[in-house]
Amino acid sequence: SWYTDKEEVVLWMNTVGPYHNRQETYKYFSLPFCAGIKKTISHYHETLGEALQGVELEFSGLDIKFKEEVMQTTYCEIELDKAKRDAFVYAIKNHYWYQMYIDDLPIWGIVGEADENGEDHYLWTYKKLEIGFNGNRIVDVNLTSEGKVKLVPNTRIAMSYSVKWKKSDVKFEDRFDKYLDPSFFQHRIHWFSIFNSFMMVIFLVGLVSMILMRTLRKDYARYSKEEEMDDMDRDLGDEYGWKQVHGDVFRPSSHPLIFSSLIGSGCQIFSVSLIVIVVAMLEDLYTERGSMLSTAIFVYAATSPVNGYFGGSLYAKQGGRRWIKQMFVGAFLIPAMVCGTAFFINFIAIYYHASRAIPFGTMVAVCCICFFVILPLNLVGTILGRNLSGQPNFPCRVNAVPRPIPEKKWFMEPAVIVCLGGILPFGSIFIEMYFIFTSFWAYKIYYVYGFMMLVLVILCIVTVCVTIVCTYFLLNAEDYRWQWTSFLSAASTAVYVYMYSFYYYFFKTKMYGLFQTSFYFGYMAVFSTALGIMCGAVGYMGTSAFVRKIYTNVKID
Ligand SMILES: *[C@@H]1O[C@H](CO)[C@@H](O)[C@H](O)[C@H]1NC(C)=O
Repeated sequence: SWYTDKEEVVLWMNTVGPYHNRQETYKYFSLPFCAGIKKTISHYHETLGEALQGVELEFSGLDIKFKEEVMQTTYCEIELDKAKRDAFVYAIKNHYWYQMYIDDLPIWGIVGEADENGEDHYLWTYKKLEIGFNGNRIVDVNLTSEGKVKLVPNTRIAMSYSVKWKKSDVKFEDRFDKYLDPSFFQHRIHWFSIFNSFMMVIFLVGLVSMILMRTLRKDYARYSKEEEMDDMDRDLGDEYGWKQVHGDVFRPSSHPLIFSSLIGSGCQIFSVSLIVIVVAMLEDLYTERGSMLSTAIFVYAATSPVNGYFGGSLYAKQGGRRWIKQMFVGAFLIPAMVCGTAFFINFIAIYYHASRAIPFGTMVAVCCICFFVILPLNLVGTILGRNLSGQPNFPCRVNAVPRPIPEKKWFMEPAVIVCLGGILPFGSIFIEMYFIFTSFWAYKIYYVYGFMMLVLVILCIVTVCVTIVCTYFLLNAEDYRWQWTSFLSAASTAVYVYMYSFYYYFFKTKMYGLFQTSFYFGYMAVFSTALGIMCGAVGYMGTSAFVRKIYTNVKID
């Protein structure tokens, strides 16, 4: 924003927390810091996204005016009794950092330091602020911590600050650039992995289309030749292959209700990812606190008809009758999973007094969004889906009696196919997962959404190719249970991602303790599940188009 000379500039204190876990944060004043004397503004009102991310802005009480220098000034004193000393020592031992904001620019500072043998602990007491301005806007802030004071019980510690203003050439639009880390995100490895995955896509698509073209052409040739033979010959002909299951392949999947709810939710997650990434590419969402999460929630609510449409139409096609129940399950599958995990972690957060404890008002707001936005929009989508594409217009009729599934080799069992199916899609995304995890769990701002978009596209193509091949093998083994198999073989990507998150936890992070562990694994589970449902739905949609295509061209008497 624009300032006039001598206008008040607010220094907001946000959170304090261990350096090694960016997501575990506490209110700044949960440590016995003291505030300045100025009391005009006490608390900032957060947006929904900020509240969910644990932003806790409180006024520091420091007197800062635009372009007005402040020499070193003591703003308050801490009366250090035993309890306060212990709190500081605990924070220093755990490498606590605090975060502040000036004009939306984040500033990080370290609480204190221990000496080498870990006996004496020191607190940084002097905040030296250097603020860069360009015209009448703030474009740069540097904080230097000085004034190391040993923590001795029953002493008084004076906290001080100073402010220096400097003219800067940084453009206002570019003021966040110094927080980005191009040498990390645009590292050769990142480019290389994208290139690699891209090559894999070309190879896979080529391979799949080649195998299928050849095999299908051969199959068609065989079947059309059979047609010219008389019935006697045909009975003696090859009695195997995917054509044999034409009477069962469009049989409704087992558990159609949960299946169509999963597919609907997966389509919704896919559209949310697509839209949010596009928005993030167009607008620099990282410059505003919590705006990414707010955008995601808004887009999720707005794309609810997608969920209803695909879930409802698939359920109708499969002959399901309890469509209202399906709609409820579909609408609340993801919200219930996310809220359930958040609720569980919330309990632990409350126990630890972390600022990640979600305020009651925010919970009410989220529930209202679920019931008054997501549910009605889902209803609209479901009704549209049932009426526009709810007819089971399959190319082959379904036989009354299910065909027995023949014995087959172990590697043709659906369980094995499901396990193998996720390997290639996981291989195409795991480098990107490293960058995403690092920006979520460490102090890096993710900003290369173009890469993320590419990876999403690559992931979808690889997933569809792999599930088509899996399904083709399965149908050739005369096993018609392709619906769940195609969904699960794509979704198993997420199992590999979750296993990767274990590796990441033990080798790439320094987290410890119940709160950090449950927070990490809880939200990783949510992330992986959502990813799995998305991949599953994408794989199923691609495969079902493929299955429809091959059985359309087959003439069946
Ligand atoms: C902040 O620090 C950086 C790097 O040391 C420097 O280039 C920049 O000029 C500083 N900004 C201000 C306002 O002092």
